[in-house]
Amino acid sequence: MCGIVGYVGKKRAIDKLVLGLKTLEYRGYDSAGVAVMQDNHVIVVKDKGRINNLEAILDYDALNGNVGIAHTRWATHGIPSLKNAHPHEDQNKHFTVVHNGIIENYMELKDFLIKEGFKFESQTDTEVIPVLMEYYYQKDKDVVKAFKHTLDDLKGSYAILVITPLISNTILVAKKNSPLVIGEGSDGIYIASDIPAIIKYTKDFYFLSDGEKAIIDDKIRFYDEHFEEIKKQSKTINWEMDAIDKNGFKDYMLKEIYEQPASLKNTLNGIIVNNKPVQFVGFSLNKKYLESLKQIYIVACGTAMHAGLVGKYAMEKMLRIPVNVEVASEFRYRDPIVDKNTLCIFISQSGETADTIAALKLAKEKGAKTIAISNVFESSITREADHTIYTHAGPEIAVASTKAYISQVGIIVAFAIYLCDTLFGSNKDTNYLKEELLHLPDLMEEVIKNEDNYHELAKKMINVHDLFYIGRGCDYYIAMEGSLKLKEISYIHSEAYPAGELKHGPIALIDKGTFVLGIITDSKIADKTLSNLEEVKSRGANIVLITNQNIREEQVISIPDINPILSPILAIIPLQFIAYYVAKEKDLDVDKPRNLAKSVTVE
Ligand code: G6P
Repeated sequence: MCGIVGYVGKKRAIDKLVLGLKTLEYRGYDSAGVAVMQDNHVIVVKDKGRINNLEAILDYDALNGNVGIAHTRWATHGIPSLKNAHPHEDQNKHFTVVHNGIIENYMELKDFLIKEGFKFESQTDTEVIPVLMEYYYQKDKDVVKAFKHTLDDLKGSYAILVITPLISNTILVAKKNSPLVIGEGSDGIYIASDIPAIIKYTKDFYFLSDGEKAIIDDKIRFYDEHFEEIKKQSKTINWEMDAIDKNGFKDYMLKEIYEQPASLKNTLNGIIVNNKPVQFVGFSLNKKYLESLKQIYIVACGTAMHAGLVGKYAMEKMLRIPVNVEVASEFRYRDPIVDKNTLCIFISQSGETADTIAALKLAKEKGAKTIAISNVFESSITREADHTIYTHAGPEIAVASTKAYISQVGIIVAFAIYLCDTLFGSNKDTNYLKEELLHLPDLMEEVIKNEDNYHELAKKMINVHDLFYIGRGCDYYIAMEGSLKLKEISYIHSEAYPAGELKHGPIALIDKGTFVLGIITDSKIADKTLSNLEEVKSRGANIVLITNQNIREEQVISIPDINPILSPILAIIPLQFIAYYVAKEKDLDVDKPRNLAKSVTVE
């Protein structure tokens, strides 16, 4: 979703801003803009569409100021347009603002300001911020007071940067329920909605908590929610630059597919050690507490929810405790039956997904213990949860999640083993599963080697309108993730179905040539899924089988055999490649699919 970059320093701000915006492109956006402080007045340049459009209209020679803010917008209030693009200003051009999040009471504030004689240019909620600041500024000519009063009036979520010619070397910063980091580099101070935008310049970051503010010139002053000055400690993030470079790959998604074995190794490092009980950094759950559990909830959105489903499969098999997996946007409004005897696990790659965070807050209110699984250090969800487990998959840039999914599956299975070891003590089954987990990266390399076969298969699918992915048990969960990957980046409609459910309706859609991708990784139910594939085959379907069993089919993708609990980690790889190559063959932008955002910070 929307991205923010800000810079105050010795160098030309515009270069830093444009580069930062480009690094944030993956978040998904539909317009972009910059504002640079130039000889005591602010120059704003913005445009609809890609950052390239913005670059084409930037007069770099006329923009050599050292203070600036920038934004990529993902439309919420008002269509994608030049007028609605950020930055926004008040009529007197005293305050120039970029904002992520949603000002929920903007209509009320806008009505009030219009009555007070102020004019608005856009349909956005954001524009009330500079106009309200101007309203307060006119009262007592104090910029910081105007900022404080404005923030006091805002309801909703925000990460806000403000520049003003009234104190021209400064950026005012505020954060509430929307991500924001500040980094101190050798040539200036950087602000961004996401670490990758500024990791090139520093590894030391300050993370604002909700309600905190900062005033930044040649130094950073931090303030708490009451605007009292506070001290904050920076934290070091050891991401290497090549983690956010394409490193010779055509796309981030392809690079990230290739990174999966290494990511999984990183994820499991120190957690899974052969024949040793599983351990997590910073917390442990005792046997008495686990014995009191009546149920477990796993709550997430999108791909993370699909990883949660594998968690359900693993936990129910090993623990015999009911595990519910639910989409966060449903959980939060459904008054779920959750209490102190419920353990709630929230999975979010970004740690910023609005629905998942709200669901977590609700579970906490209901008295449940909460665990966050996130890939992003210090992300919002990690501050809300009782305990956090990091996936350590490294930065994921492509919108379609690949390596983060693998790491989420790895960690949730490790967590299931942890619960099992704590409740029943290590045993030969869990020890064997640990061995298998540690062996997985090598098996993943084997699956990746067959990239060319997946590419050839993808070529046959580019003109297809509908596709089905089917499986049973864990294979159905793999089908769901495979189908989502294809939809996200190739724009081909596909559905995942439990194999046995096809005949209750969807089989009516099977026609000559309809592609059906069957997944079979569990020998116990192989025959059942195979029969379902025969049913669609006899109605003309074109079958592709992904399996670790010895089954004869015309189009088979063979993957190594492993415990069905772990098979998603291997079986998803061909499906990721297929989605990738279908999109490539259709000449689509795989890393930045239309309408999607990497982290969805609105509900
Ligand atoms: C968006 C992304 C998906 C992701 C989902 C949940 O829809 O496009 O790839 O799975 O959000 O994101 P999270 O950061 O919470 O895992």
